Amino acid sequence: MQCKVTEIGSDTYRLSTFHPDFGIQFNQILIKDDEPFLMHTGFKSMFQTTLTGVTSIMDPATLRWVGFSHFESDECGALNEWLGVAPHAQAVCSFVGVTVNVNDFADRAPRSLEDGEVLRIGRHHLRFLSTPHVPHAWDAGLFFDETERTLLCSDLFFQPGDAEPLIESGIVERARDAMRSGLNSPLAKDMPYTPYTDSTLQRLATLKPRTLATMHGCSFRGDGGRAILYLASVIKDLLGKPEGGL
Ligand SMILES: [Fe+2]
Ligand SMILES: [Fe+2]
Repeated sequence: MQCKVTEIGSDTYRLSTFHPDFGIQFNQILIKDDEPFLMHTGFKSMFQTTLTGVTSIMDPATLRWVGFSHFESDECGALNEWLGVAPHAQAVCSFVGVTVNVNDFADRAPRSLEDGEVLRIGRHHLRFLSTPHVPHAWDAGLFFDETERTLLCSDLFFQPGDAEPLIESGIVERARDAMRSGLNSPLAKDMPYTPYTDSTLQRLATLKPRTLATMHGCSFRGDGGRAILYLASVIKDLLGKPEGGL
């Protein structure tokens, strides 16, 4: 496996590794600043590949923050490997994530963020948004780089395959097709439709991101607010109807 690095915004790097066994990309986003920030660690088993990608951009020992949306192996499985190579690095995620999982899991004390709190890493200011169950999991949250207007989307806009790094149209259609075909897969029902789903997506749209940096599939540059509203309508249409009981 090879980690492909693309600068998708100022100081903002997409590190993408296609995993043939899963048929999807695992993407990390590195924001290079006074206090470098890595969104997602990748799997523990992919650490060396991800490390190679980061090393092509900066000295990995200078990494300061490891952020992620929710506690899953692709989001934070290699957290302790990163803490091992970067002596000043800390995990940063939601209060629920820290309290329920990361305090126990991490080899170094994590930092929790409240909803709306801003993490200043230098020129870039990252606003944390608590988004329970969006894309999934109680502890979920997202980071929004207010400086470059980049939303670090985690699993939102999931698309399979080894996609190109950045597109300027069609991301919702790709995500819609992936959601549709996923409805009958063994990994179906990854995203619950809750009383908070639509309002959470509407809130994300008001941020008016210029770039949507996805974890699986291509990133998007353009009218991010419009794309999120379109995605919200797709999700409501596909998931927001009662199934008639299990
Ligand atoms: Fe996930
Ligand atoms: Fe993921």
